Amino acid sequence: MANDVVISDIHSLNQNQAFEILSQIARVEKKTFPAKEAFSFGEELWKKKPNTRVLYVTSATNGPSSSVLAYAVYVRQKGVALLHKVCVAEPYRRQGVGQKLMTYVRHRLQKEGCQYVQLWVDKAREPARSLYLRNGFEEREEIPDYYAPGRTGIKMVLDLECGG
Ligand SMILES: CC(C)(COP(=O)(O)OP(=O)(O)OC[C@H]1O[C@@H](n2cnc3c(N)ncnc32)[C@H](O)[C@@H]1OP(=O)(O)O)[C@@H](O)C(=O)NCCC(=O)NCCS
Repeated sequence: MANDVVISDIHSLNQNQAFEILSQIARVEKKTFPAKEAFSFGEELWKKKPNTRVLYVTSATNGPSSSVLAYAVYVRQKGVALLHKVCVAEPYRRQGVGQKLMTYVRHRLQKEGCQYVQLWVDKAREPARSLYLRNGFEEREEIPDYYAPGRTGIKMVLDLECGG
């Protein structure tokens, strides 16, 4: 599966295409995360937020109209990026898509001159923590009840200047 995908940026689309992709992403987001943690994939992401990048993954064989398999969102302020989301739609997990997306994000941030990437992850999200560790992130801080009572948040950091 991972060899057969294309990673694109919503900012390379025209408005109608971008809105269609954002609405597909919003549907996957709603299925994956509790309402309180769901990122808002509104149309303003395409119109007014140049620092916020939304990347999405589609199948190469099914062509440009194929549906969104995965996505990632980051906000970059000079040398620091906050990675808000990495998500693979459930039927496509465990096939290398998340890893491919992470490699792409890392290289792209490096090219953009970013030095550090930060993120917060729910301690109970083992697949995500494993994916981030595998990509060079280090766990730096734990905050109990960060997401909700009983749900610990872990801050992870990737230093891109240290060969990440
Ligand atoms: C985390 C997530 C993005 C991984 O995507 P994926 O496409 O299934 O991952 P890949 O197949 O590319 O696997 C890459 C690595 O991720 C980790 N991983 C993925 N699924 C895992 C699982 N079920 N259990 C443990 N580790 C897992 C492993 O380190 C794996 O490397 P390995 O194959 O050498 O073990 C996906 O599970 C997901 O979208 N989860 C829900 C959303 C989420 O929690 N996002 C992160 C918080 S925003």
